[in-house]
Amino acid sequence: MPTLLLLPGDGIGPEVTGEVRRVAEKIFPDLTLEERPFGGISYDTLGTPLSDETLALALASDAVLMGAVGGPQWASAPRHLRPEAGLLGLRLGMGVFANLRPALCFAALADASSLKREVIEGLDIMIVRELTGGVYFGKPRGIETLPDGQKRGVDTQVYTTSEIERVSRVAFTLAEGRRNKVTSCEKSNVMETGLLWREVVTALHAREFPHVTLEHMLADNAAMQLVKNPRQFDVILTDNLFGDILSDEAAQLTGSLGMLPSAAIGVAGAPGLYEPIHGSAPDIAGQGVANPLAAILSFAMALRWSLARPDLADRLTHAVEAALASGARTRDIGGDLGSRAMADAVLAKL
Ligand code: IPM
Ligand code: MG
Repeated sequence: MPTLLLLPGDGIGPEVTGEVRRVAEKIFPDLTLEERPFGGISYDTLGTPLSDETLALALASDAVLMGAVGGPQWASAPRHLRPEAGLLGLRLGMGVFANLRPALCFAALADASSLKREVIEGLDIMIVRELTGGVYFGKPRGIETLPDGQKRGVDTQVYTTSEIERVSRVAFTLAEGRRNKVTSCEKSNVMETGLLWREVVTALHAREFPHVTLEHMLADNAAMQLVKNPRQFDVILTDNLFGDILSDEAAQLTGSLGMLPSAAIGVAGAPGLYEPIHGSAPDIAGQGVANPLAAILSFAMALRWSLARPDLADRLTHAVEAALASGARTRDIGGDLGSRAMADAVLAKL
């Protein structure tokens, strides 16, 4: 029997993963569900945001579904013990180098965007963010005190050919099943890693994916184009840091931030890491009002990418669409349902 490891984490994480549990039990009764502390709650109880046992269990599972991590109460914890450090450790430990972040505008929510309806209606972008390299992990890094007493902070942006190739392959393969276009974003005009990124993507494209349309765009221009004419994009391929920024921007412009799932995948056959894009939302944690749809749709991505059940993924996605079409809404998207009632609306459509 396949196993899904739930890592509820902090803030609204436990609430939204609790609803995933109910959906999973209904749609896939044979799925074994495990649960472990992760993030701030794990730091508080076990002294580390990511324990060895949790990482071992993650690697032994078929998929991992995380709620959210972090919150103001851990802001002064040592950096390597903060909830976010646990998340980076989990990504690296699981080797999930390709982060798939769809930004799509649900028809029922087109008016929830801060952009005009005609600009975002029907939007369907897939951002492929490199997730285990770049400036997030590059060495040297740190803050040192100079002889004159001032301080110096260093981060290192670094990429190798194979790191760029493996994530690019994921992006090109995804584009083949979509609208066949990849826009690769970097800063090759100022950065050495950007130059290498462009060279490697160009060469891989010519060798393995000449039938896919490839476009290069500087990352700052991409940020501008995303608000100007977002529907020009199909798959956006980019590095860890630019992907972090561009995916927040793309998610917000759909008006559906509380709705968007994500998947992080590694080599074929290895477990994937699934998480809603929204964070831990400490301001509404514990109130039962968080939108559980991003977590539920993350579970749908797990069904498709790691649990070999695309049929169930389709069923679940359609149930979410049907629930929205029937008017079911949490507060963030203009309704008044709580998390549980919203999940009930999805369960009713399954
Ligand atoms: C994200 C988040 C994380 C990141 C943080 C919480 C470490 O912003 O998943 O986009 O920067 O990758
Ligand atoms: Mg981010």
